[in-house]
Amino acid sequence: MKGIKVLELPNLGDDRGELVVAEGGNKTIPFDIKRVFYIYKTTEGTIRGQHANRNSKFFFINVNGSCKVKIDDGIAQEIITLDEPHKALYMDKMIWKEMYDFSEDAVLIVLSSEHYDGEEYIRDYDEYLKEINDKGNN
Ligand code: TYD
Repeated sequence: MKGIKVLELPNLGDDRGELVVAEGGNKTIPFDIKRVFYIYKTTEGTIRGQHANRNSKFFFINVNGSCKVKIDDGIAQEIITLDEPHKALYMDKMIWKEMYDFSEDAVLIVLSSEHYDGEEYIRDYDEYLKEINDKGNN
């Protein structure tokens, strides 16, 4: 799907243990990181996300446990399982996302290209489709 990339992060681990690196500024992550948030102790059956962002790009790493991310660009849907600390998901702006199936021990770290701004969130799926289609018609 356009605007989505699953990446294998460089693992520099040795006999002392693992060390995984992701750098901003277009090295590994195709944006400068302005915000980090993380999600853990997610209760059973929870679905997070269920929104699209007009400006924010994201980089997801599930550093412990596992979760699934359902992505939707208004045409197609894809499900990515994040179950390794060295596996990452890059997501462009204007992608509808849902995070679910969190294992009890899941720690999902999300890096973003933008500071938090509630106004750039589209939380209604029909509104998302409308904006995608309006853009396509311009
Ligand atoms: P929410 O959008 O429900 O999180 P998710 O994307 O994981 O479903 O955010 C929960 C609350 O936290 C909501 O009131 C907005 C606030 N919030 C911030 O203030 N800053 C942030 O960076 C994020 C992700 C959320």
